[in-house]
Amino acid sequence: MRVVVTGAAGQLGRDLVDVLSGREPMGGCGGASGGAVLAGVAWPRGASPGRGLEVLGTDLPELDLTDRAAVRAYIETVRPDAVVHAAAWTAVDDCEGDPDRAFAANALATRHVVEAAGRMGAHVVYISTDYVFDGTSPRPYLEWDPPRPMSVYGRSKHAGELEVGDRGTVVRTSWVCGFHGANMVKTVLRLAGSPGPLRFVGDQHGSPTFTADLAPAIARLVAERRPGVFHLTNSGATTWFGFAQAVLAAAGHDAARVEPIATADLDPPRPAPRPASSVLDNAAWRLSGLPALADWNDALGRLVAALGVAGPGVAGPGVAGVSAGTGRGAAGPGANRVPGRGDEPTASAVKEGI
Ligand SMILES: NC(=O)c1ccc[n+]([C@@H]2O[C@H](COP(=O)([O-])OP(=O)(O)OC[C@H]3O[C@@H](n4cnc5c(N)ncnc54)[C@H](OP(=O)(O)O)[C@@H]3O)[C@@H](O)[C@H]2O)c1
Repeated sequence: MRVVVTGAAGQLGRDLVDVLSGREPMGGCGGASGGAVLAGVAWPRGASPGRGLEVLGTDLPELDLTDRAAVRAYIETVRPDAVVHAAAWTAVDDCEGDPDRAFAANALATRHVVEAAGRMGAHVVYISTDYVFDGTSPRPYLEWDPPRPMSVYGRSKHAGELEVGDRGTVVRTSWVCGFHGANMVKTVLRLAGSPGPLRFVGDQHGSPTFTADLAPAIARLVAERRPGVFHLTNSGATTWFGFAQAVLAAAGHDAARVEPIATADLDPPRPAPRPASSVLDNAAWRLSGLPALADWNDALGRLVAALGVAGPGVAGPGVAGVSAGTGRGAAGPGANRVPGRGDEPTASAVKEGI
C-alpha cells in the first residue's frame, strides 16, 4: 500500500508521515503511535505502518498543488492507494486580503488532488477546519450541521470540502498544535519568559487538538477508507484564555499570569473573523464505535514534555514588555507585541491556530 501526504512539511503533515511510517510522533501516547485509536485496524494488502506501507510526503516548492498538470503527473507517477491532503494556505488573516490565492491553494488545489487521485482509484482524505462554521451554535457542531464560514479562509476550505464531495473523506479539526511548526503552545511557552501579564481571548471556545493524536486517527480513516465527513478533535473544550493558562501550568509556570480579554478588545482587531464557539462533536467517529481522542489537557502535557525547554520554536529570549492579546491566529502577533524577533511569527506568517 502506498500513501501520499500533501503538506508534508507542515505541522500535521510531519506527524502524519511519522505515524504512517510506524514512527512514534513527538508527544504521542505510545504504542508505536496511536495506541487504542489504531488498535485492531485491518490495513489493506497486509501492509501497515512500518511494515510495507510506503509513505511519500510532498510540499512546496517540490510540488505546487495549484498546478493541475504537475499534480496529475506526480500522482500518475507515484500511483498511490490513498492521498491525505493536508496542504493548505493556513495564514487565516492573510487569506482575507488575498481571496484568489486562498481559493487557489485551498479549493482549486483540492480539485486537482481529487481529480488526479480519482484517475488512479486512490482514496482522498481532505483535512478541513472548524472555520467552516459561524460559531453561533449553542451546542457542539455535528458533521451534518450546515457550514456557514465567516472568513475567506473558512470559505476556501469549505470550497475544498465541496471538491471532495462524496468521493472521499473530509476530516474537520480545530486549534491544531504539534511538535513541528508554529502554534499556540509554542507561542505561550515563548511568551512565558516575558514579564507582566499575558492576555488571551476568553470569549472564543474550541477544542485544542494535537497532531500526535490526530494523525493516528486520520491514519485509521485512511486504512479503512471510511467515506464522509468526520469531526476529529481531542476531547474537551476551552477558550484561548483557558488554553494559555493550561500551557503555563503544564510547563510549571504561574497560570495566574494569564488574563482574559474579549475579542472586541483586540487592538488592532484581527482581519479575519473567528467563530465564537466552534466545538466539534466527533459524532460520526463516536457513533461508528471508534475510541475518542484523549482529553486535550492530557495531550497538552505530552507535547509540553516533548518540547521541553528547547523544542523547535520554543527556546529563545523572552519578549520584553509584551502583552499578547490573542485569538485564534492572533496569539503571536497580539495587540501589543514587539515586532522584529527572528523566531516570532510575523503578521504575514500567522497561521491557523496560533
Ligand atoms: N493549524 C490549525 O489550527 C488548523 C485547524 C483546523 C484545520 N487545519 C487544517 O489542517 C491542515 C494542516 O494544517 P497545518 O497546521 O499542518 O498547516 P501548515 O503547517 O501551514 O502546513 C500546510 C502545508 O501546506 C503547504 N502548502 C500551502 N500551499 C500549497 C500548495 N499550493 N501546494 C503544495 N503545498 C502547499 C504549506 O507550505 P507553506 O508553508 O510554504 O505555505 C505547508 O507546508 C490544513 O489543511 C489546515 O487547513 C489546521
